[in-house]
Amino acid sequence: MPSAADSDTLIFFVNGRKVTEENADPEMTLLSYLRKVIRMTGTKYGCGSGGCGACTVMVSRYDPKKKKVHHSPATACLVPICSLHGAAITTVEGVGSIKKRIHPVQERLAKCHGTQCGFCSPGMVMSIYTLLRNHPEPTPDQITEALGGNLCRCTGYRPIVESGKTFSSEATVCQMKGSGKCCLDSDDRSLVSREEKMCTKLYNEDEFQPLDPSQEPIFPPELIRMAEDPNKRRLTFRGPRATWIMPVTLKGLLELKASYPKAPLVMGYTAVGLRIKFNDEFYPVFISPLGLPELHFVSTSDNGATIGAGYSLAQLSDALDFLVSEQPEEKTKTYRALLKHLRTLAGPQIRNMATLGGHVVSRPNFSDLNPILAAGDATINVISKEGERQIPLNGPFLEGAPEADLKPEEVVVSVSIPYCTKWHFVSGLRLAQRQENAFAIVNAGMSVKFEEGTDTIKDLQMFFGSVAPTVVSASRTCKQLVGRQWDDQMLSDACQWVLEEIRIPPAAEGGMVEYRRTLIISLLFKFYLKVRRWLNRMDPQKFPDIPEKFVSALDDFPIETPQGIQMFQCVDPNQPKQDPVGHPVMHQSAIKHATGEAIFVDDLPPIDQELFLAVVTSTRAHAKITSLDVSEALACPGVVDVITAEDVPGDNNHSGEVLYAHDEVICVGQIVCTVAADTYAHAKEAAKRVKLAYNDIDPEIITIEEALEHDSFLSSEKKIEQGNVDSAFKQVDQIIEGEIHVEGQEHFYMETQSIVAIPQTEDKEMVLHVGTQFPTHVQEFVSAALKVPRSRIACHMKRAGGAFGGKVTKPALLGAVCAVAANKTGRPVRFVLERGDDMLITAGRHPLLGKYKIGFMNNGEIKAADVEYYINGGCTPDESELVIEFIVLKSENAYNIPNFRCRGRACKTNLPSNTAFRGFGFPQATVVVEAYITAVAAKCNLLPEEVKEINMYKRTSKTAYKQTFNPEPLRRCWKECLEKASFYARKQAAEEFNKKNYWKKRGLVVTPMKYSIGIPIAFYHQAAALVNIYLDGSVLLTHGGCELGQGLHTKMIQVASRELNIPQSYVHLSETSTVTVPNAVFTAGSMGTDVNGKAVQNACQILLDRLRPIIRKNPKGKWEEWVAKAFEESISLSATGYFKGYQTNMDWKKGEGDAYPYYVYGAACSEVEVDCLTGAHKLLRTDIFMDAAFSINPALDIGQIEGAFIQGMGFYTIEELKYSPGGMLRSRGPEDYKIPTVTEIPLEFYVTLVRSRNPIAIYSSKGLGEAGMFMGSSVLFAIYDAVTAARRERGLSDIFPLNSPATPEVIRMACTDQFTDMIPRDDPSTFTPWSIHVS
Ligand SMILES: Cc1cc2nc3c(=O)[nH]c(=O)nc-3n(C[C@H](O)[C@H](O)[C@H](O)COP(=O)(O)OP(=O)(O)OC[C@H]3O[C@@H](n4cnc5c(N)ncnc54)[C@H](O)[C@@H]3O)c2cc1C
Ligand code: FES
Ligand code: FES
Repeated sequence: MPSAADSDTLIFFVNGRKVTEENADPEMTLLSYLRKVIRMTGTKYGCGSGGCGACTVMVSRYDPKKKKVHHSPATACLVPICSLHGAAITTVEGVGSIKKRIHPVQERLAKCHGTQCGFCSPGMVMSIYTLLRNHPEPTPDQITEALGGNLCRCTGYRPIVESGKTFSSEATVCQMKGSGKCCLDSDDRSLVSREEKMCTKLYNEDEFQPLDPSQEPIFPPELIRMAEDPNKRRLTFRGPRATWIMPVTLKGLLELKASYPKAPLVMGYTAVGLRIKFNDEFYPVFISPLGLPELHFVSTSDNGATIGAGYSLAQLSDALDFLVSEQPEEKTKTYRALLKHLRTLAGPQIRNMATLGGHVVSRPNFSDLNPILAAGDATINVISKEGERQIPLNGPFLEGAPEADLKPEEVVVSVSIPYCTKWHFVSGLRLAQRQENAFAIVNAGMSVKFEEGTDTIKDLQMFFGSVAPTVVSASRTCKQLVGRQWDDQMLSDACQWVLEEIRIPPAAEGGMVEYRRTLIISLLFKFYLKVRRWLNRMDPQKFPDIPEKFVSALDDFPIETPQGIQMFQCVDPNQPKQDPVGHPVMHQSAIKHATGEAIFVDDLPPIDQELFLAVVTSTRAHAKITSLDVSEALACPGVVDVITAEDVPGDNNHSGEVLYAHDEVICVGQIVCTVAADTYAHAKEAAKRVKLAYNDIDPEIITIEEALEHDSFLSSEKKIEQGNVDSAFKQVDQIIEGEIHVEGQEHFYMETQSIVAIPQTEDKEMVLHVGTQFPTHVQEFVSAALKVPRSRIACHMKRAGGAFGGKVTKPALLGAVCAVAANKTGRPVRFVLERGDDMLITAGRHPLLGKYKIGFMNNGEIKAADVEYYINGGCTPDESELVIEFIVLKSENAYNIPNFRCRGRACKTNLPSNTAFRGFGFPQATVVVEAYITAVAAKCNLLPEEVKEINMYKRTSKTAYKQTFNPEPLRRCWKECLEKASFYARKQAAEEFNKKNYWKKRGLVVTPMKYSIGIPIAFYHQAAALVNIYLDGSVLLTHGGCELGQGLHTKMIQVASRELNIPQSYVHLSETSTVTVPNAVFTAGSMGTDVNGKAVQNACQILLDRLRPIIRKNPKGKWEEWVAKAFEESISLSATGYFKGYQTNMDWKKGEGDAYPYYVYGAACSEVEVDCLTGAHKLLRTDIFMDAAFSINPALDIGQIEGAFIQGMGFYTIEELKYSPGGMLRSRGPEDYKIPTVTEIPLEFYVTLVRSRNPIAIYSSKGLGEAGMFMGSSVLFAIYDAVTAARRERGLSDIFPLNSPATPEVIRMACTDQFTDMIPRDDPSTFTPWSIHVS
């Protein structure tokens, strides 16, 4: 180890300010440094593993050779500060701020409504900003590409892309493309001729400041001097545990490598960083040769190109692009294959950080590049003190054979990638859960060389990734095929042999075994077709082309820039100018979101004496704790205390929710104890030292099926019934029965659960800052846990970085856990869950099993339905009973089935307790309804839309629970959707497409929706507001609702502005708190605006009533004058407004009630294309018609609809939770749980707010927070429509299980064909699968 004395000063710049660190710690990431050391909290933590982009910053370096500054995006959570010597970092604070000047990127993101909760916004700003620094006038595709590494859970990306497109000169039509004018205003799409005028303009681009690249900060001259210094010397940075050494010559590097053979050579750090984080690896020494010129070059020869190992994957991409443009096409087949995969490998941040050398050496088994490099005969050029050597990538090195490995002292300097020869074809193939930024489920690099002028195989190579612990070669198969003709028989043998050679064991890590086996040969078939087509192009006379029907199988779905139109009612021209109601007002915090100045819980400045909390969670699903030994943890550095159930002074089990496990654990992920320490790193390190021993307890119930076997329930049965179901079944033409499984969903709010608890010195008071939807609930739990009256517990909530139901109940539990720690230690405690812990502990949407029996006539009329629902509630009550009630009540969706019985129960299992999630059971339950409607249609030989139409509510009716409603808006949405989406014409076009294409199929459906708002319990609709007018006329507005990104506060300001008749700028809204508005109910159920709006309105009206006599006396006076006069007259300028709530009720004994205040209706039409060979799908177009009644703020409402739709689409298609058979959640981060990215959104996206009346609600509006979620199921059913077309063509039954999500695996395996028939199947009783479904 180098000695302490040789520690150098680390120098870099942050936002133009020089940072010098005398004691730079190699283990510190830039994200921690920014947030915790220099207290810049604009850069956010979303995952800590490079997968979400919330921490994106711009890294600029000066290239002394090119005399140029290079700017690249990077995820700060994977950048060690020591790697930044000589770099200039720009964070969101450096781009612009409200205090100084906001940047056009920030302004446009905000004004285009590209922020909702705002947690992803700084990362989005940085990605667009970095792009603009390199390309001031980017193309729309460059913008879409730049955003590929940034996740947003709220907006659905459309407005974010749109804000970026405003910088593009190519974007010319419709607002989506930047002009603000709708390109289709004049055609049929326009509803201008209707009773009210429709608008499409959600923002005014005339307000935008122009982008002036000359105004950007200059690169620090000091760093240029440092970069150009000819006398650079080796630097060493020494931290408490680790040392970082930066050699400046190749010789120096080799010496270091010889001295510290076990030290990783840190290039991009993207592999090493993850190993440290997830595999607990520790390295005392890091060697960082990142700037060495010997590793940064491209050279070409007659044989090909050699590229320096230090080239980032983005630089590699640029180099290959250049070579492809320079060289003849036939030579660059390998380069083009690499380029295709480089476009979707991770996101731009990782591509700019990760290096070619790091990639080939770390040899991830999912590598997108190594299989192609191997198939293209690439070699790596290695050097050590002993000399140089070349290692072919198509040899044992790639497969990780120990004897072929690099020697510890060896360094890869470059990779040589030869040109292809004339009769040589190379291709890369891959399939991932989503198109971009997702590890491949299977990928492949394949190449074939033919005897000149023939189709006789001279050499064949096939490498597969993600099928084994390393990339593997099908070398035996390839050898056997040499000399064979490239024909169908060869293919058939190749498939058989490759399956024999590459065996994925049934219990293989990663699961999806049969699918992966199928993919191996499906990708091989694609390669076969590509080669046949290419042979045909080489010599059309000699080699026949592939059948026309097969051509579309050749290409992956392209990544294109989405576009669309949003339509909403224009504001009445007679409305007073000052009145903001009905206008698309920007989110009240949007600018702050975009500048990073919006404060989230973990952005709160440190509090004196503050401690950090790390959790120890159960690793068993159901077990007795036989011992808990915390002694080693207590002895760890920085540890102050370990907190267990014994430390809870009050109720450790409040309402059935256990804070700290005591004696027994009931799920994997249950909190057993927490460690409080001076830093989070110390707390986490110590938490690993807590020793727990268990004895398993029987039964361990994980799935719904197991719960049913054991009669394990959380609630009694809920039932509604109408008509006479049993006798109706006797009179129908046909009966079908079936089962639908709908898996769960992770909220994946971008801000993980965060709490700061501050014990007060007096009277046992406790102050909490929590990201929650329900501060009252936090107060309740903390009060119960501490045995302190609620009046002494103050819970503050400014905003949450997304919630979606996941912050209704869980923050109470976690808040109490945290408060107990604060109480015990007597110190403030900060408790911010890491992404993995958050996903493990807090659970999500309930998995559901639906069983149905449907009786119907041959014309599609459904006469009887008997449906049972079971949800997997997990281990404690949470809100499962309420969820099953909702499911039962909402289970008819839009259909009137005269004899209808629906029953439901919440199952108790040993999984973490599932909880509220947008839609509250409806999105799961209604899939079952749409599935049986689809099945009925298939039996009647009708389109599902015809059966929907036949059975849909048509006139004022009673629901199955006897509530009267008028479905007129449903009919309008349905009709307009069919018409405006040109459903029938496009359906026909899709059928034509399907006839012409065997391996790609299109599907198109329209899904109607009747969604009930609110809760069948009246008191849950009450709300209060407090409005204070100050003597300068400014107004402080407080209400009981929480700002979660939905724009609730913005709408409340609009309401107050209208009611008080003052500009919005007079009204301020600071936070939600149990101190100002007590006993507020949760902000959920799409009710936030409804109930709080009424309360705010009431408070404002009370105040206005008090001011009225003064106004009457001085009608021309100003607001400020009236306020001053009121004070003089001793009139109170503070008022509480109250809304008693909607009067709803439900009598479960009778199965009757006026359960909901009103309904929101909608219809969505989605069209998809599926790749039957891989299971990938592309969403081509979606049209949503949503009954918004009167929209208080169309921008926010459309934002909710689009965001919910994309979240729903994710739920129904690519989001898949994987549980081990023992109940452990395996998918615990963005790396293995895939929410939609910008590439998943519809290529064309049209949203229309349909006008109706809703006098019961404030300003006749409707709550739209959740309804869009279910509209996402139109994608699921469009996928099934496409799969049905494939199955029909293959002579298979068109009734097959319509489970959710329709992942690529499900799609591929449903498109049964010769390849699925060929794979080996395993007897399920002979192995334990890696993951199971729990629905
Ligand atoms: C969020 C995320 C998403 C990703 N998505 C994908 C994906 O979709 N597809 C895919 O293929 N990959 C993906 N990856 C993996 C990524 O490609 C690799 O992590 C990356 O290429 C490693 O390069 P690096 O420079 O960061 O390596 P480092 O982490 O710096 O080093 C990795 C290892 O290589 C050794 N090493 C590095 N350079 C040399 C050298 N010149 N000579 C000798 N040894 C060396 C180091 O000692 C170390 O052990 C993803 C990674 C992340 C973090
Ligand atoms: S926090 Fe860095 S990428 Fe997610
Ligand atoms: S606004 Fe993007 S995550 Fe909330």
